[in-house]
Amino acid sequence: MQQPLIIVDAGNLLFKKALSDSKGISNTTALITAYGLVRAYKQMSYDAVGISSNDLSAGTEFFRRSIDNSFPWVAANIYDKKANLLFSPHIIKKSGNLTIGIIGLTGAAGNNIEDFVISDWRKSLRKQIALLQKNCDMLVVLSSLNLSENKEIQRNFKQIDIIVSASQKGRNIQPQTIQNGLLIQGGGRGKYIGKLDITRNSEGSWHLASPQSPDYQKNRLRSIDRQLKQLAKQQSLTGKDFSQKMDRLRSSREIISKQIAQQVTDLTEKKTLSAKSYKSSFLPVKPKSPTGKIGIIVQDIKKSINTFTRYQRAALQPGDPAVRRALQNDEIAGISSCVPCHEKQAEFWKNTRHSNAYATLSQQGQSFNLQCLPCHVTAGKVIHSSVDSELLFLLTLSTDRQTIGCEVCHGPGNRHLLSPDEVTPERLPSEKICLQCHTPDRDNNFDYQKKLATIACPVD
Ligand code: HEC
Ligand code: HEC
Ligand code: HEC
Ligand code: HEC
Repeated sequence: MQQPLIIVDAGNLLFKKALSDSKGISNTTALITAYGLVRAYKQMSYDAVGISSNDLSAGTEFFRRSIDNSFPWVAANIYDKKANLLFSPHIIKKSGNLTIGIIGLTGAAGNNIEDFVISDWRKSLRKQIALLQKNCDMLVVLSSLNLSENKEIQRNFKQIDIIVSASQKGRNIQPQTIQNGLLIQGGGRGKYIGKLDITRNSEGSWHLASPQSPDYQKNRLRSIDRQLKQLAKQQSLTGKDFSQKMDRLRSSREIISKQIAQQVTDLTEKKTLSAKSYKSSFLPVKPKSPTGKIGIIVQDIKKSINTFTRYQRAALQPGDPAVRRALQNDEIAGISSCVPCHEKQAEFWKNTRHSNAYATLSQQGQSFNLQCLPCHVTAGKVIHSSVDSELLFLLTLSTDRQTIGCEVCHGPGNRHLLSPDEVTPERLPSEKICLQCHTPDRDNNFDYQKKLATIACPVD
């Protein structure tokens, strides 16, 4: 039978990183986005939303307004200076015949969050469990704690059935069970909704519902082993480092092996899988029509940000010291300087999506958005900057750099122009260069070799 859904988010909703202290442009645009996210989440009828310490940098005013707007924040260990709890410590929801207590726990702040005090979560958790245990059939924690703390909950607080962890690295991870607890985490940036179907008829540990047939699982293991072998071979042949990819494969391997083992014990102990079982999936979120309710909120956010930065651009004086600083040692010549001597490559490049990257932003009404520009133009060294005054420079680029030009991959070309034969740019851009922009949250299956092949300029 279909039970009512409970929709939650564990934190890091507003910001991936804490905002810096200054009231700079990127802070303002991040806040515009945060206000929009809160509107969108309300529209989507979220039941409970946890708060990470990063989120807190939105400030008291922001949270006061969203609480006035009855936004379902939940945080059991965030206090003000006078030791008053600032948010609901828990929220109670009914789903079918289950009463579910949802507790919010916030991880320690690595940053300055003047107006808030994050207290020891263990004490808060103990208190909330004592309050809720009697009346709730299930307890869920929305957690922005780190992995080892989440595991500590699984080990030491057996009353907690499910921990929903705030995304740290932006990747979906398969549910993990330790003791009686189930730990789940969906990737960041709203690219996926993690869906967890559960049946809970009794106490005890969690079981994977309707497990894949052992044969299917064993085939997956075989395929992983094959990939590992190939990567190891490639690594020793090319000297390239595949250790991260291999680590990821090994951890999937471990999970699948455990699942197979679990299936075997379940069968021998004749456990009924329906007693307390889960099934999880990650559903990719597809953007709906821009004229839907959420679509309109998204358009509003984009328009506000663009208007705000356009205004900043207009206020920028020629010779602004910040822009001058960014230009120092810039050494980027711009695309039109390269074309005359490398026509063949330029012709090819023009047909890649890189040449169109700024136009893509314009089409979205986002060409003034400093959050987007570093990856959609020839930013030079400013690509890594998070300093607003330096990023402002990107609003002043000539059309020659309003594209992902040659020098993004081959490096600054000024010196090469002066003496083409003596100073030659990097010929083959390393994977590291691509990964500046093809980050997992923007491009979650970036494969260097494969993608390189589609953009590599032709040889003369
Ligand atoms: C005046 C002509 C000229 C201009 C302008 C020019 N190049 Fe070159 N480029 C050359 C020559 C000549 C070579 C070959 C040098 C060699 O093989 O020693 C070369 C080689 C290269 C190579 C290959 C390096 C290698 O190791 O094989 C790249 C990449 C390159 N240029 C990129 C650029 C970029 C980017 C620009 C614009 C900033 C640019 N070039 C502008 C003449 C030019
Ligand atoms: C400055 C940021 C940046 C760098 C560096 C960069 N890319 Fe891209 N790349 C983009 C953006 C942005 C797009 C999408 C442009 C659009 O569609 O408007 C893109 C699109 C692509 C595409 C086409 C879409 C796809 O995924 O099939 C390929 C292929 C690609 N990049 C490969 C690479 C490779 C390989 C490197 C490194 C050699 C690289 N890129 C470096 C930003 C970058
Ligand atoms: C960290 C680098 C980065 C940032 C920041 C970034 N992008 Fe991109 N963007 C990319 C890359 C890489 C691609 C190509 C991904 C692919 O197609 O595989 C891309 C593709 C796109 C595309 C075309 C493909 C699609 O997904 O529809 C649009 C539109 C886009 N970006 C808009 C934006 C906007 C708007 C912003 C700012 C709010 C932004 N990007 C910020 C790296 C970035
Ligand atoms: C997204 C990255 C990227 C961009 C942007 C890019 N290139 Fe390349 N370019 C490559 C790759 C990859 C190769 C192939 C390197 C290899 O296989 O050794 C290459 C090779 C070259 C070569 C060497 C060709 C030869 O004869 O050996 C030249 C010259 C060159 N590019 C010029 C340009 C120019 C000019 C532009 C801009 C119009 C440009 N590239 C834009 C990635 C890029």
